[in-house]
Amino acid sequence: MAPSSLFAVGLVLAFCYLTSFTASADIVETSFHVKNLTANRLCQEQVIMAVNGSLPGPTLRVKEGDTVIVHVFNKSPYNLTIHWHGVFQRLTQWADGPEFVTQCPIRPGGNYTYRFNLTGQEGTLWWHAHSQWLRATVHGALIIRPRDGQKYPFVKPFLEDTIMLGEWWNADPNDVENAALATGAAPVNADAYTVNGWPGDTYNFCPSNKTYRLDVVPGQTYLVRIINAALNTQFFFKIANHNFTVVAVDAAYTNPFQTDVVLVGPGQTTDVLLTANQSPGLYYMAASPYDSGIGIPFNANITTGILAYQNTTQTTPTLPVMPAFNDTPTAFTFSTNLTALVTSRFWSPVPRTVDENMFITFGLGLSACGSNQTCGGIFQQRMAASMNNNSFVLPTRMSLLEAYFRNVSGVYTTDFPDQPPMVFDYTNVSNSFNQSLLMTPKVTSLKKIKFNSTVQIVLQNTALVSVENHPMHLHGFNFYVLAQGFGNYDPINDTRKFNFVNPQERNTLGVPTGGWAVIRFRADNPGVWFIHCHLEVHLPWGLGTAFLVENGGTPESTLPPPPADFPQC
Ligand code: C2O
Repeated sequence: MAPSSLFAVGLVLAFCYLTSFTASADIVETSFHVKNLTANRLCQEQVIMAVNGSLPGPTLRVKEGDTVIVHVFNKSPYNLTIHWHGVFQRLTQWADGPEFVTQCPIRPGGNYTYRFNLTGQEGTLWWHAHSQWLRATVHGALIIRPRDGQKYPFVKPFLEDTIMLGEWWNADPNDVENAALATGAAPVNADAYTVNGWPGDTYNFCPSNKTYRLDVVPGQTYLVRIINAALNTQFFFKIANHNFTVVAVDAAYTNPFQTDVVLVGPGQTTDVLLTANQSPGLYYMAASPYDSGIGIPFNANITTGILAYQNTTQTTPTLPVMPAFNDTPTAFTFSTNLTALVTSRFWSPVPRTVDENMFITFGLGLSACGSNQTCGGIFQQRMAASMNNNSFVLPTRMSLLEAYFRNVSGVYTTDFPDQPPMVFDYTNVSNSFNQSLLMTPKVTSLKKIKFNSTVQIVLQNTALVSVENHPMHLHGFNFYVLAQGFGNYDPINDTRKFNFVNPQERNTLGVPTGGWAVIRFRADNPGVWFIHCHLEVHLPWGLGTAFLVENGGTPESTLPPPPADFPQC
């Protein structure tokens, strides 16, 4: 270890020591045992991987400023990592978790301790496996409440509840992924959607089926934290006869926004206030898919839970009327009406100058099948996905972060382009099957960014194979959403639509289908940060890249060395 890195560790420790005394912050320490669990869903038994024997896994409840220590024991037969979705990981970059980006996997039988701090973030986040498709069942909530002496910036709720939406396969999700990757075809869809692990009443009845139930006291207001933990499905969420007031998304406070429907994509969270102000009865809460792709098969079922008023005599709950699966206007209205609560103590104004201007096309495509192989994708090729026509491949011998830290060459390149290689009519569906545009090379190409640069990215969806709303997730940062629209981004007219006053802050944004979004963030967190589509089907297809943010020259802006138990490949 170089003397300079020893110095950095010393400072980190001194810093934590100080905060723990000045801010009444706690250390929250727990263990995750990841192992087989036989679960009964859809009238059959299925062995799943689960944390501490439960689905969803344990909820981590902390206060802003606390330090979290999680000892992960991999007792599963699979390689495993855990990602703390939305946690900035300042000075704990080695704990971020995406396999082969941050770390090599924890091998079966191995363990690793994740340590990180939750300063400057409040609201609902979550944790999930970030290796193959394990996150289908290896996930749970991460709830960050105000520290002592601080309050929510809204009416104090009577009680709080968490709704994790998910997907269920009558199969091992890793097998589903592997079967698809073997031929390059699209994977099979989930057999059911779930509310807190249960498909609910719309599916076949068996005694083992359960329906999640939230009991409420008439007149009281609840803070409901909605998390989409599904792999591949965006959801509309409603409760019959009830309205919501959105107060936060992705652990960033919003101006109160009234709505009867929430759109939540994989990776996203939405905190709503719900007042039990209807006649005391039973009401279904329901999640139905938002599927914006054209001709892409999906499961059209809905999943339900029950909102039950105390002492009700009603026996059949009322169902909400759900939006159509392709109701893009409703999706767009929800996503564009959210604004940041600038009076929040975590708000910082949008940086007004830009150092790195990127225009990134992204969407589906194809990669070569390979000679002597038979492939199940379109035109007998492999299904693929890309950003600026780079289809991202993870390394296998060392993580990107470690290769950067140790200066190991040959693991990645830093030539990710700021523009697509070719200008075409990106969102014109007549290009969807244009073979000269569909093929995309497999590369591990990163974008290098100077510390503290302001990065602006126009995320431009393409119509290749199909237009689609992709939930784009950035690790290590929140970003401001300056504007969103349909069609091809127009650099002259669309710039005028930028909201510099109170743009929503997120870590995951569903970019409008066949459209674009402009995001901006300050790269003040050194490390290697994955940016990718949170539809798990698109990740192994290559819909991602990573930002390599260089050190800033002070100990607080320098990537520390990895911890002693850091997993080796
Ligand atoms: Cu929630 Cu890289 O993911």
